[in-house]
Amino acid sequence: MTIIFGHRGAAGTFPENTMVSFAAAASLGAQGIELDVQLAKDGTIVVIHDETVSRTTNGKGAVRTYTYDELAKLDASYKFGKQVGFCPIPMLEQVLRWLCTNSLFINIELKNNKVPYHGLEEEVVTLIRKYEMEQRTILSSFNHYSMAKCHQMAPDIETALLYKEGLHSPWAYAKKIGAKSIHPNYKYISNAIIELTLANEVEVRPYTVNNEDVMRELVSLGVSAIITDYPEVARQVQNMYK
Ligand code: G3P
Ligand code: CA
Repeated sequence: MTIIFGHRGAAGTFPENTMVSFAAAASLGAQGIELDVQLAKDGTIVVIHDETVSRTTNGKGAVRTYTYDELAKLDASYKFGKQVGFCPIPMLEQVLRWLCTNSLFINIELKNNKVPYHGLEEEVVTLIRKYEMEQRTILSSFNHYSMAKCHQMAPDIETALLYKEGLHSPWAYAKKIGAKSIHPNYKYISNAIIELTLANEVEVRPYTVNNEDVMRELVSLGVSAIITDYPEVARQVQNMYK
């Protein structure tokens, strides 16, 4: 069965990568959440998409130049301020603690493809182990060296390769570096490659699928999951194929 990952929570209708967005994704029918992590100046793992706070908060500048206490004062309600009020940037630890109260899966995307955050992999794995989330976590990144490192360090935690452009024989490439899954941009993967990848026992979770017709096609192909800003739409599609 295809499951649903709420992209940055329920980013279509709530401020991305905030607790309110993750809670919304769960109540809108997602079985998992996707989020992005970066490292703050004091080594705290924080949940934010960009390398800077400028787009999604009322602050400016690089995430890595702020301590967590400084980041926590920023308002990440983004364009949904009137709807939800003040929303802080969460720590990854806070999200993992919340996951202990439900049974959602979590896809942690390591945003270390632009800034080479030293030690991010180790810190993320330590937290996953602390909250015993090994079986509910998928690590992903556009930085495939980082995914190879995570697999070496923690072979019991699933790793996924994120990519945008066409990749030849993605199942073979994934297996070579110990990844159990691929997370392709849905625009650049064909149905034939999806089918071949699944047939080779590598999971396929395309992102970011917001169009209902595309969701239907992917669900009918049997993809492992879809990553969407609109879990409520995906849930309707999922119900049709049950
Ligand atoms: O993990 C899927 C997707 O989130 C990757 O792209 O830029 O939205 O983080 P981006
Ligand atoms: Ca992401």
